[in-house]
Amino acid sequence: MSLSLHASYASPADTDTPLLVVILPQNPLMTAPLVAIDANLGGAMARTIARRDFRGARDETLLLVGGDSGALRVLLVGRGSVALTRATARRATAIAARQAVKLGTGAMHVLLPDADGEAIEGMALGAAAGSWEYRDLRAPVAEKEQRATLANATIFMSDSDAARTSFDAGVAVAEGQAIAKRLGMMPGNYCTPDTFVEVGREIAARHGMTLTVLGRAEMTHEGMGSFLSVAQGTPEEPKLVVLEYRGGAVDAQPVVLIGKGLCFDSGGISIKPAPDMEWMKYDMSGAGGVMGAMEAIGRLKPPVNVVGIIGSTTNMVSGTAVKPGDVVRASNGKTIEVINTDAEGRLVLADLLVFAKRFHPAIAIDAATLTGAIVIGLGSGAVGVFGSDQSAVDRVLSAGERAGERGWPMPMWDEYKDQIKSEVADLKNTGGRAAGSITAALFLQEFVDGYPWVHLDVAGTAYSQTDLGWIPKGPTGTPVGTFVEIVRAHAR
Ligand code: BES
Ligand code: MN
Ligand code: ZN
Repeated sequence: MSLSLHASYASPADTDTPLLVVILPQNPLMTAPLVAIDANLGGAMARTIARRDFRGARDETLLLVGGDSGALRVLLVGRGSVALTRATARRATAIAARQAVKLGTGAMHVLLPDADGEAIEGMALGAAAGSWEYRDLRAPVAEKEQRATLANATIFMSDSDAARTSFDAGVAVAEGQAIAKRLGMMPGNYCTPDTFVEVGREIAARHGMTLTVLGRAEMTHEGMGSFLSVAQGTPEEPKLVVLEYRGGAVDAQPVVLIGKGLCFDSGGISIKPAPDMEWMKYDMSGAGGVMGAMEAIGRLKPPVNVVGIIGSTTNMVSGTAVKPGDVVRASNGKTIEVINTDAEGRLVLADLLVFAKRFHPAIAIDAATLTGAIVIGLGSGAVGVFGSDQSAVDRVLSAGERAGERGWPMPMWDEYKDQIKSEVADLKNTGGRAAGSITAALFLQEFVDGYPWVHLDVAGTAYSQTDLGWIPKGPTGTPVGTFVEIVRAHAR
């Protein structure tokens, strides 16, 4: 992450800064801290609010000219009339950070009066989200045209251990999301299965985790014919990467996080239409989310055991590619008729879910950009949440709510299973257009054995094809926050 986040216990009115951001609710009142800041502005803030030029609506901003010292500029940002949560604080701070980037102030200080722990965490996340950029592959901007990038964001908070803990948690998750976003944004010729090995190795080295890597030979040995059928059309080595974080008792069952890592999904022989196909570089967002979560967990050091498992390959068209009608065998012995080679994510996840069993998960959660149908159903507003263990589903839903990555429960009734019955094999990999996200989840369930499991379909939420206002189009960082919250809840 290029942004440095800092905490300040000082008085905002006495702080020198190129940009002071003040986040205010709908119809704000001039409370004491605001009056103190306003002294340096000659009362401009009070007049602006009295004239209703700034009303504090969600996403509303107004830039005031500051003094020669203290705050050189003051940006008022509205957070609307909704309750103050991590998500609302994050959104307002992200809006501020995007403005700071445009203004080229280089730094900003953020005040959210009466911020609690949740708000502080949200502010750290928002500052990172709003200033995030992917510049790795672009020529540097000419010196004379360059505006300073936002390098420092400082959050005003009370001088307490609780506030510091919240701030540190925000920074940890922000760092994790930066990893997930970078991997998502990287084109398919840069982000390859080997990239997941490299990133995994870096995370393992930084935080003392164990790294295990399986290639084609090892996966063949494990009998992972389902995963390997997707990888048979690409000369790239597929990789299964495992990161083990041991923060709990030696015998404590781990939380297992599983991610779909398709570095590009052309659809294979059942090739996708050309328009928008370039967005399929994001088809590794589940795996990116696992990597990001492991980074955050390495920083947070919760007293639990966590295992991250990702399966990475590229779904390509070639003379060696798997064909519609082929039957493959997964590592639990089940046979699968491949009706559509574009339903490849579930083929990769099948073997990962079987593999997960050896870690004796207390709970396993997979994340995958699995179906276009979930984009139709829920758009960018909610993660599709599936699972047969209601208590596990409920825990994941509340984790997502706390993280500001809302999920919505989807049914997995037996009646839908008829759609994935095959004439020649135990299962087929597609069940037609109707209830496409549900039949995909039911397919996955066939490979879950002996542990509570939840599936997150993040196809509509891990990246956005439009600017969402608080973050630009591109990767969102979902589901890093949800994963981290599940682990934190497990530690309590
Ligand atoms: N990666 C896609 C799902 C996807 C679609 C993610 C759009 C993000 C945006 C997945 O591999 C896929 O192609 N699914 C097919 C399944 C179908 C063939 C049963 C789909 O959703 O069309
Ligand atoms: Mn596909
Ligand atoms: Zn896919």
